Amino acid sequence: MLNISVLVSGGGTNLQALIDGIEGGEIPGAQICRVISGNPEAYALQRAKKHGIPAKVIDKGSFPDKNERTGALLEALKEGKTDLIVLAGYMNVLPQKIVREYRDRIINIHPSLIPKYCGMGFYGKRVHQAVLDAGETVSGATVHLVDEGVDTGSVIIQKEVPVLPGDTADSLAGRVLATEHEILKEAVNRLVSQLSSGGI
Ligand code: GRF
Repeated sequence: MLNISVLVSGGGTNLQALIDGIEGGEIPGAQICRVISGNPEAYALQRAKKHGIPAKVIDKGSFPDKNERTGALLEALKEGKTDLIVLAGYMNVLPQKIVREYRDRIINIHPSLIPKYCGMGFYGKRVHQAVLDAGETVSGATVHLVDEGVDTGSVIIQKEVPVLPGDTADSLAGRVLATEHEILKEAVNRLVSQLSSGGI
């Protein structure tokens, strides 16, 4: 059974998609061993609690010192015997020490067609507003491996989403989010089977 730690900061709809996918048998051979939130108010924590998944808040409030915060994150990942890390709406930059320790076993979901509209400052509604401001007719979502950069790791899956006339950042966000849920489950499935059959 492969252990997945999901890192969150917000509503947790991507976490919920993974929970539902695992409980629904769409992601065999894996379980969510930990939910770690960078935000004590994240609704994602309620979702974890409802499904009996051990959760921990690791943020500047509880760990003001950066090195202690990194140590606490590593400890939580190891406590959960983590094989795969999923960043699902996680708004912090992962410490380099963790990226190195879990190289090729960390994935992130981003609400655009990387390499467009990604990197520092491109998150949440800002992504969709930039897509609209640029007059794009197509947007989408991407799951990529996490490396030392921001949204720069190799793409695992991406799927296009149409931009419709009259779209607002909210309406486009909702349409892209549905696609995020879909491709995140597919990407986790691929990683789980790769890691279960002897790694990347
Ligand atoms: C999503 O748009 C995701 O792409 C971004 O964070 C947003 C919220 O995700 N990374 P969730 O509902 O907290 O999973």
